Amino acid sequence: MTLSGCLSLLLFGFAFFVINASVADDFAYDGRKKCSGCHKSQYKSWKQTGHAKALESLRAGEKSEAKEKAGLDPAKDYSEDKKCIACHTTGFGMEGGYEIEDPSKYTVGVGCESCHGPGKKYRLLHRKASDRFDKEKTPTSRQMLVDTGEEFEFVERCKSCHMSYEGSPWSGAKEPYTPFTPKVDLKYSFDFDKYVRDEKAMHKHFKLTGVFEGPPQPAFHQEFQDTAKPASEE
Ligand code: HEC
Ligand code: HEC
Ligand code: HEC
Ligand code: HEC
Repeated sequence: MTLSGCLSLLLFGFAFFVINASVADDFAYDGRKKCSGCHKSQYKSWKQTGHAKALESLRAGEKSEAKEKAGLDPAKDYSEDKKCIACHTTGFGMEGGYEIEDPSKYTVGVGCESCHGPGKKYRLLHRKASDRFDKEKTPTSRQMLVDTGEEFEFVERCKSCHMSYEGSPWSGAKEPYTPFTPKVDLKYSFDFDKYVRDEKAMHKHFKLTGVFEGPPQPAFHQEFQDTAKPASEE
């Protein structure tokens, strides 16, 4: 193999490592209390979504028809079952994430950090950057947020819950698997471009004032901002 061949293989290996590391969560979770205090509009909207109520779906008597169809027992309480809660809570098994023995109400359900990344570190930067913006009108680069654990791609995070099933075409699939697969019903097929625009599952979007600038930004960022409402203070 040529030297440049070796090098690109090495680089490829490195890029692969970095991608995996970003999903493996090197940063600590903090719960949504802090996020919600500063982002009240997104919080109120998120509360109405299925993601917010995901832990309730595991309780006995909830979503019985869907459970039966997937071969589960609708009379059983699955809300403390390790095979289930990883995808129905925030950061289960990770530092600061949901714990069965000591459940915090701020990590119940699929919360802010399930999609935006574990926030203990970057949330401090949101405060600092916003103070700086207010005082000097200077924006902060989004790359600094990436470096402190904030997610901007989203897709791999969504897939870690939505596409982790036996026989999944997604290479990251691993146990515990979701019982709700396209085989059970085609409506469980995950289509990122469609799902990320789903108004029942995703919080509404609110206008950003420009505290952060530059890449990375997801492809749909501008589309969402174009129709975003002003955030409310109360
Ligand atoms: C101290 C207040 C504060 C806290 C705590 C906070 N944020 Fe922020 N956040 C801000 C401000 C201010 C902005 C900039 C908004 C703007 O540009 O108008 C921001 C921006 C964002 C953005 C948009 C970034 C971009 O692309 O421009 C996201 C997403 C976000 N916050 C999520 C979160 C999450 C998730 C948490 C909890 C882990 C959190 N924030 C905690 C104040 C905060
Ligand atoms: C931590 C796991 C997890 C992550 C991460 C996650 N989801 Fe979900 N999602 C769920 C669960 C669990 C439900 C079902 C909630 C319920 O009804 O109990 C769901 C439901 C949905 C639904 C509703 C589907 C329907 O049948 O109507 C959509 C749409 C959706 N998610 C999109 C997304 C997108 C887009 C992302 C990434 C930006 C994402 N989700 C990230 C676990 C997750
Ligand atoms: C790998 C992640 C994952 C695991 C593990 C998981 N789920 Fe889910 N669950 C999801 C996702 C994603 C959805 C949303 C699927 C969709 O609507 O497209 C969901 C949806 C559901 C729903 C709502 C289905 C509907 O049609 O409304 C129930 C009920 C549910 N899960 C129960 C369970 C139970 C019980 C377990 C454990 C035996 C479990 N889940 C394990 C990811 C998971
Ligand atoms: C299921 C995934 C998901 C969850 C859960 C989630 N978000 Fe988001 N959020 C997104 C996506 C996708 C965007 C769009 C990013 C963009 O436009 O760059 C977004 C955008 C934002 C923004 C930027 C402004 C806007 O409204 O578009 C803020 C701030 C934010 N989210 C805060 C939160 C907070 C606070 C929570 C928890 C209460 C939360 N998010 C929960 C996926 C999620």
